[in-house]
Amino acid sequence: MPRKIILDVDTGSDDACAIMLAYLHKDIDLLAVCTVKGNQPLKYTTENTLRIRDLLHADFPVYKGCPGSLVKNIVYPRILPTPNADAYDEEGNKIHIHQELFDLPASDGEVEAMNAPDFYVDYLMHASEPVTVVAVGPLTNLAVALIMEPDIVKNIEEIVIMGGAWNITNATLAAEFNIYDDPEAAQRVLHCGAKITMVPLDATHTAYISRDDSAQLRKIGTPASLFAADLIDLRILVHDYAQPLEVPHTCALHDPLTIAYLIDPNVLEDVRFCNVEVSLSGLTEGQTCVDQRAIQENRNVHFAFRGNHELFSKIFIDAFRS
Ligand code: BDR
Ligand code: CA
Repeated sequence: MPRKIILDVDTGSDDACAIMLAYLHKDIDLLAVCTVKGNQPLKYTTENTLRIRDLLHADFPVYKGCPGSLVKNIVYPRILPTPNADAYDEEGNKIHIHQELFDLPASDGEVEAMNAPDFYVDYLMHASEPVTVVAVGPLTNLAVALIMEPDIVKNIEEIVIMGGAWNITNATLAAEFNIYDDPEAAQRVLHCGAKITMVPLDATHTAYISRDDSAQLRKIGTPASLFAADLIDLRILVHDYAQPLEVPHTCALHDPLTIAYLIDPNVLEDVRFCNVEVSLSGLTEGQTCVDQRAIQENRNVHFAFRGNHELFSKIFIDAFRS
């Protein structure tokens, strides 16, 4: 039986790859996609999601979610200055890791009338069987839904989160972007009582994707595989410039690793069940504090310390052959 999932995205180049993998893989039943602000303002993350749906000729429903974080945007000052990480291509043009989706044709597709938190509450309160929620953007939609109706947890089989960090960070010296963007929402979700698996930067950087992988996608030659190859090559350029991985000329593809885990859990390695809390203020705002003591209380998260590059790239590429 394919795993039924609701996918929450801030599309985004790697979110686009997560949507494609979830839609194309036979082991996943993509029930709905919810959008949230994050990589771009909500207007663009939603439009990007609709463009990917068009690219796939798919018909999954899209629910537009929250345009701002729970409290972060109303408390001043909560945004730390980040270093300028602009990258440039061979011709000297500035490139942005999430720009490429705007090259797809504009979508005339529609979003559903209900907003994303209402959809979570409505769907999960009436579901006949538990579903898995995969969140690869800031956790605002799910946190709002949990505040509105904590009982939705009864129909959540598992929450899989791309977010957090142990040894590698990207948004600040202490924090990963999705958690940093709405730390209160993340803290709310981490304590909701559902089974939670966290796919942090430590896993996504070790399950890297290479130029060999994008070359294989180009050989497949479908519109979706060619677009995925373009996104990977773009991400490799930006990573080489701003956040080089241990293996040169590779990139972290982050978000689809969550979907790959649902297809084959072995794609995550060194997964430890431990207490994870989110720092809500100061220099460490948005940091995921991962308890590594032998004796600890409140274990709430299965936290993956590593990913498997070979298995991940195989799962990702094979999905485009179907
Ligand atoms: C996460 O942040 C976003 O920029 C990416 O889409 C990914 O979900 C990585 O830190
Ligand atoms: Ca994302």
